[in-house]
Amino acid sequence: MVTIDELKRHYLFTDEDAGLLASLLPLAEAHKGKITDDLYDYLLGIPETAAFLQDDTVLQRLKTSQQAWLTDLFSGRYDNHYLRKLEKIGTAHVRTGLNAHFVNCAMNFVRQALVNLIRETYADREMRRRLTDATEKILDANLDVMSASYLEEELKKEFVSHRLESKLIRATERFTYGLNLILVLALAGVSISVVAQFAWDLVHIFQGNIEKGVLSALGTLLILWMMIELMGNEIKNLKGGKFNILMFIGVIIVALIREVLISTLRHDDLATQTFLAGTLLILGVVYFLVAKSQKDGAAR
Ligand code: HEM
Repeated sequence: MVTIDELKRHYLFTDEDAGLLASLLPLAEAHKGKITDDLYDYLLGIPETAAFLQDDTVLQRLKTSQQAWLTDLFSGRYDNHYLRKLEKIGTAHVRTGLNAHFVNCAMNFVRQALVNLIRETYADREMRRRLTDATEKILDANLDVMSASYLEEELKKEFVSHRLESKLIRATERFTYGLNLILVLALAGVSISVVAQFAWDLVHIFQGNIEKGVLSALGTLLILWMMIELMGNEIKNLKGGKFNILMFIGVIIVALIREVLISTLRHDDLATQTFLAGTLLILGVVYFLVAKSQKDGAAR
């Protein structure tokens, strides 16, 4: 946000300009009615701006506001209070949802009306030039302040959405991290029960049920091996590594191999054993295809 002094400095607006503008006040007062009427005829001719001017009370209020703005334009006093007024107009436009483009067009319309008025009124060329220069400067400074409201609104929106976005991303990341942590802990818990299952299988061997014990122990060891791989994968994930789908297919395959071993021990019927073997084959093919596509992807 610029200060009034900066605004004047940047537009090379001098006290002399302020004096020249003040000398134009009587002329502006005499013509402000006509200028605002013409401006509103012009705005009513554009569908996008006419939409804002359908209500008669709004139209009247606007004309009064516009005339007051014209009076201020030639008051010769351009201080902080004046700057606040301009900012208020800018915010009023942003609030109503008016496109900044039409404010520029309207300003161009007012500029032409004022320049023509000066040209018709002042015969002296040098005086005309100085009055026109001062008018142009104050109109440009006005447009500058009014347009800044649009820019600030945009920045505010961007700032809010950017802040919201990064907060949301950070919260989701923390949440996912938490979930992964829970998963690792759960896997550790399950691994302990797998170890217990392995011990139980060994008991079977010592009890003399060697075939059942050995096959079950083998299946349990397979599961334990997969659990270790899974946990390793999850820990890698927690450290920022990539999620590995192959690992999960592997777990299902191992679980199925164990099921096949147990199924043989149980002497399940042929249909069940064929079903398990078929599923295992399909999973094997899926594992092979995923592994191949991952390898191709890494090579590319
Ligand atoms: C030279 C350019 C313009 C100037 C100097 C200007 C001036 C003003 C002023 C002084 C106000 C009153 C602000 C307040 O409440 O303090 C205002 C509000 C408003 N202006 Fe403009 N205006 C301009 C262009 C336009 C254009 C092109 C439109 C399009 C129709 C427009 C529509 C409005 C509307 C809808 C409001 C709010 C009215 C209300 O509900 O009170 N203005 N403008």
